[in-house]
Amino acid sequence: MDTFGHRFQLDIFGASHAPCVGVKLRGVPAALPLTEDDFTADLLRRKSGAPGTTPRIEDDRPELDDRRATDGTLTITFANRNYRNEDYKGFTDIPRPGHADFVAMARYGSLRDGWFSGRMTLPLVAAGVVAKKLIAPLTVEARLVEIGGVAAENTAAVGRLLDAAAAEGDSLGGLVECRCTNVPVGLGEPFFDSLESLLAHAVFSIPGIRGIEFGDGFAAARMKGSEHNDPIIDAAGHTSRNGAGGINGGLSNGNPIVFRVAVKPTSSIRKPQRTFDFARGCLTDYSIPGRHDTCFALRVPPVVEAVSACVFADLML
Ligand SMILES: Cc1cc2nc3c(=O)[nH]c(=O)nc-3n(C[C@H](O)[C@H](O)[C@H](O)COP(=O)(O)O)c2cc1C
Repeated sequence: MDTFGHRFQLDIFGASHAPCVGVKLRGVPAALPLTEDDFTADLLRRKSGAPGTTPRIEDDRPELDDRRATDGTLTITFANRNYRNEDYKGFTDIPRPGHADFVAMARYGSLRDGWFSGRMTLPLVAAGVVAKKLIAPLTVEARLVEIGGVAAENTAAVGRLLDAAAAEGDSLGGLVECRCTNVPVGLGEPFFDSLESLLAHAVFSIPGIRGIEFGDGFAAARMKGSEHNDPIIDAAGHTSRNGAGGINGGLSNGNPIVFRVAVKPTSSIRKPQRTFDFARGCLTDYSIPGRHDTCFALRVPPVVEAVSACVFADLML
């Protein structure tokens, strides 16, 4: 399904190698002020061009079709001006290892013009800008904490790592931490729509995500109850530690919601990999052509913020 949410609802459309990508929002109050400038900061944070990101540059200018006062929709569209379909033709015969080409061909009989693409996260970030306005004073902030196992703040080491990976025609993954503050107590549901489930659902909708952990996460399995429990220190429910990541019983507990997201290394790499050639029916060594991020985790923090803000907007409207 290309739709997410109930009260704050988004449909994404378009594709990376088609004329546009975009999102149609429902549930945005007509009175919420919005201008194109509101989108600039978050869209810039996701944009490519920095070392380690793809040389494909688009202007990423949002075009707003605001019909909130009539049919209740707000559509935000971005033109694609710099796509090269020829780079992707070969992937129907030789699917990229780790990418979605094989499953796309099996399910749809085509690559769907780059539907399985990081470019689809551009409209997600736009939806997040609107959602962030709706959920204030609740704030959602994500940052890259690790690249290829090295602390992101160690910029010199990270720069060397990115250069080395690019020179080898290889790629790197990363770890993103997200912190949500001013969260009211009681958002979420006890079972299927637990707040962790909703956030994980939204985060796993971002292409290339391999894991998510809340609070102590997987480390909790090796802790004692006396270590993992969060002692309550006041009548508002504040706790002296946050091993639960701000959620108990599927409901926000009033402490910051903290989770970490594992982002995989980019699949499309120049370094030759053994894979199957479906046209010739044999194994082959494949060096993937085209323009790709060496480490797309660099561009993921605003996307994590956006999808999380959409979850909160859906719960709070
Ligand atoms: C912002 C962003 C940029 C991405 N850039 C690339 C890229 O340049 N090359 C690539 O192979 N994958 C890239 N990806 C990841 C693919 O879109 C993803 O691996 C693919 O759709 C398959 O999905 P899966 O990894 O979740 O199975 C990017 C993802 C994001 C979120």
